[in-house]
Amino acid sequence: MKVGCSLNFVEAVVLCLILLPIGILADMPLRFRKDGTFKILQVADMHYANGKNTTCEDVFLSEEPYCSDLNTTAFLERTILAENPDLIVFTGDNIYGFDCPNPKKSLSDAFAPAIASNIPWAVIMGNHDDESSLSREDVMKYTATLKNTLSKFNPENADYIEGFGNYNLEVGGAEGSKFENKSVLNLYFLDSGNYADCCADRDFPSPGLSEVHRIVYGYNWVKNSQQFWLLQTSKRLQQEYMADAEALKLRVAAPALAFLHIPPPEFNSSMLSKKVGVQQEGVSGPSVNSGLFTSLAGAKDVKALIVGHDHINDYCAELFGLQLCYGGGFGYHAYGLAGWARRARVVVVNLDKTENGWGPVQSIKTRKRLDDANFTAIDDQLLWDLEYA
Ligand SMILES: *[C@@H]1O[C@H](CO)[C@@H](O)[C@H](O)[C@H]1NC(C)=O
Ligand SMILES: *[C@@H]1O[C@H](CO)[C@@H](O)[C@H](O)[C@H]1NC(C)=O
Ligand SMILES: *[C@@H]1O[C@H](CO)[C@@H](O)[C@H](O)[C@H]1NC(C)=O
Ligand SMILES: *[C@@H]1O[C@H](CO)[C@@H](O)[C@H](O)[C@H]1NC(C)=O
Ligand SMILES: *[C@@H]1O[C@H](CO)[C@@H](O)[C@H](O)[C@H]1NC(C)=O
Repeated sequence: MKVGCSLNFVEAVVLCLILLPIGILADMPLRFRKDGTFKILQVADMHYANGKNTTCEDVFLSEEPYCSDLNTTAFLERTILAENPDLIVFTGDNIYGFDCPNPKKSLSDAFAPAIASNIPWAVIMGNHDDESSLSREDVMKYTATLKNTLSKFNPENADYIEGFGNYNLEVGGAEGSKFENKSVLNLYFLDSGNYADCCADRDFPSPGLSEVHRIVYGYNWVKNSQQFWLLQTSKRLQQEYMADAEALKLRVAAPALAFLHIPPPEFNSSMLSKKVGVQQEGVSGPSVNSGLFTSLAGAKDVKALIVGHDHINDYCAELFGLQLCYGGGFGYHAYGLAGWARRARVVVVNLDKTENGWGPVQSIKTRKRLDDANFTAIDDQLLWDLEYA
């Protein structure tokens, strides 16, 4: 038997034995820790531009002379150091394209603390990332080449999909447990585009034009093709997971989280549960409802949809079994409120402790970290628990 160019059977078997464990590790770059936890840091709306010469928005007048993009960098470094997350998720408007003469440099500088930390990180785009000389496609392509990122341009075998930066990540169970080769937590990333269809595929020659499109047509929406891909992927993952349901005594499929930039209209539903966190501005989503919420709720595995975009909203509220969460604005070169600290969302997922060691996911909790003197943690809450599933 000949394999490849010049391997005989014995050589091929030896090579396979060498590559097998490497292959398994490469397939599961994310996994729960030995203490049964997995922590995600969400960074929303950095609006990074040129570093120290980029001014801050909505800080006190007395703070303006000493404030720049470097404050955003410092906040990111501080949060990574204190939280030591297992994954950092940037939920769009990572750079503020209009102000970026060199978008590749802005992107590299914006993500630099994540790259330096050696912690895996993932990105989706917002509506401002492509407002420079780099097209939306190229921003995502470039981002996916940066060190330690798990961001992907788009899924393989789904060339029908619209947008750039739609992908999923799997988080393996604790090493040494019965779930070590299974994805016990699934993460979906979707591109919510920029402005409504009239202008979604073009680059804006001037900031003014994009602003006109936004006002006239509103924001873009998550397309049917993206929802179809998510539903197919979710179904496949649930089937794979539940294949050993009896042996592993599983009642429900592995939970999932979805990340997006622009909130769907349901974030403003009158049926929302009591909000944990605040709403200080309207929900500025698309002017049509593309059905994303019903797709996510219908998928059954998705327990929370986590977005950015509206910087001074930072609430989570539940609607028909799905938690809808804002991150709250992180970046200083982005609108905010002077005196209302820039913030980040932290999501902590815990495994179930069984008599045979770590089991499937038991609970999903969240809180926020403020960039204030005490680095205050607020709004601790439970998003999902296996008991209630
Ligand atoms: C800030 O830096 C960028 C990139 O180096 C440069 O293009 C821009 O002109 C600078 N702006 C100011 C106000 O100095
Ligand atoms: C920005 O960083 C500078 C330098 O560390 C600091 O003096 C200033 O207080 C920070 N500004 C804000 C608004 O956090
Ligand atoms: C996981 O896969 C590895 C490599 O194939 C294997 O050695 C191990 O027994 C598997 N663990 C479980 C719980 O199936
Ligand atoms: C949100 O809902 C409230 C009523 O619950 C309504 O007054 C407001 O216009 C809505 N805002 C947006 C942006 O949809
Ligand atoms: C920080 O904590 C100290 C000690 O608890 C408290 O006195 C102070 O008011 C806090 N500062 C802020 C900005 O919350």
